[in-house]
Amino acid sequence: MGRKKKQLPLLEGVTIEAVAAEGKSLLHWNDLVVFVPFCVPGDVCDVQICRKKHSFAEGEVVRFINYSNVRATPFCQHFGVCGGCKWQNLPYEEQLRAKQRQVYDQLHRIGKIELPEFRPILGSVKTMEYRNKLDFGCANKRYLTKEQLRSLPPAPAEGGGAKDVPAIGFHITGAFDKILPIEKCWLMDDLHNQIRNEIGLYALENGLSFFDLRAQVGLLRDIIIRNSQSGEWMVIVQFHLDASEENSNPWDSEDGRKAKALLLHIADQFPQISSLLYLDNQKCNDTIGDQDILVFKGSDHIYELMEDLRFKVGPKSFYQTNTEQAYHLYSVAREFAGLTGKETVYDLYTGTGTIANFVARQARQVIGIEYVPEAIEDAKVNSEINGIGNTLFYAGDMKDILTDAFIGQHGRPDVIITDPPRAGMHPDVVKTILRAAPQRIVYVSCNPATQARDLYDLDADYKVACVQPVDMFPHTPHVENVVLLERR
Ligand SMILES: C[S@@+](CC[C@H](N)C(=O)[O-])C[C@H]1O[C@@H](n2cnc3c(N)ncnc32)[C@H](O)[C@@H]1O
Repeated sequence: MGRKKKQLPLLEGVTIEAVAAEGKSLLHWNDLVVFVPFCVPGDVCDVQICRKKHSFAEGEVVRFINYSNVRATPFCQHFGVCGGCKWQNLPYEEQLRAKQRQVYDQLHRIGKIELPEFRPILGSVKTMEYRNKLDFGCANKRYLTKEQLRSLPPAPAEGGGAKDVPAIGFHITGAFDKILPIEKCWLMDDLHNQIRNEIGLYALENGLSFFDLRAQVGLLRDIIIRNSQSGEWMVIVQFHLDASEENSNPWDSEDGRKAKALLLHIADQFPQISSLLYLDNQKCNDTIGDQDILVFKGSDHIYELMEDLRFKVGPKSFYQTNTEQAYHLYSVAREFAGLTGKETVYDLYTGTGTIANFVARQARQVIGIEYVPEAIEDAKVNSEINGIGNTLFYAGDMKDILTDAFIGQHGRPDVIITDPPRAGMHPDVVKTILRAAPQRIVYVSCNPATQARDLYDLDADYKVACVQPVDMFPHTPHVENVVLLERR
């Protein structure tokens, strides 16, 4: 006989105490911290403990008794299920306060270094429709909440039924083969909702199959929508053609013809799309970095604008997703760099060279280093189309490229700007920076915890002179932070 699952306690009439990591809030129960999503400090509620570990527990609100005074009404119909904008129930000023505190706590607790007074966080100019890119999965099964499941009629014996309805939307944690259908998302200009919904409608009306994530079959797989301040729109439709059909050109197959008819319909309906792209992805995952992407209509790229610069954005290019805040972030980085026109600047983790090109006119030379070769090619194009001649770009793993020999060859940096991924910098990279001994380091980070760890390692030679948190992602717990380090 199987072991009976232990019933976990229901905490009745408890008060949520504070904002915690990952968009959750917390309360204390006995000696444990309990993390609870979709509630705010001051809410009085019944919380069902769902998971109990040695040092913490996780719970779920099953009943609100009193709503907190510090509450905002969520504006999105998908709030509470979609994992995207978990802080909609917190007023924006409170979100900013929590982010400022998060940066302060992590730099103090993990960094354990002397810190100056922090500048107040730069809030996002836009708190809705601030993104320039969204990625929607397509699946033959929609995600349903427990309540929706309970209210469904029994499934017919032959299978199918209301549960197995296709959907286009977002992946949900803990349900890898299902997609939460999205009708309206507030993160991007509303045209993206119209495009996504029209693709779904056309696919249903014209018998296009949706991808089955378990069986790895089905035609319509994923949709990426991007736009830019130049007013251009890019749509990338990812298909999974039936590979069992013998055809020298897979796009001549039954599936291929259906896919092209969908693309034609979208091109007709949305003349705003200046770059309509498509691909056949036969891999297990839907990343497109290693895939051949074809042009159905228009160009294979769009342009993003910043000050008097233009940046080429291809289907595989990384570009900061909140364009307006990216400008503020880069402006802080440029201000902290304190350039006079005489400096050699290294821009580490340069991506498509946006920061490098943004500061190039105020420097003698800028050297950008980045892992992704295609991004480096874009970075070179970005210098070229903007008439910038004092940049050099290199592709490769930072710890292998940024060596003493490389610095010997390209000249000692006066300023290093570094913008690593969430994991922060490799210890070898930190050591090389210390030996390179630039006058200033500008450290841009999307994860203050790893930034704090790296600041600790740099502390022997560098003191933190300025800290500027920046909010790039309203309604989420993510925060960006820029730190200026000066040589002691
Ligand atoms: C946070 S993004 C910054 C991009 C750029 N600074 C910008 O603002 O657009 C981090 C970049 O680091 C690159 N990267 C990640 N790991 C790397 C590594 N080990 N070596 C070099 N680049 C890496 C990623 O490909 C990505 O482009």
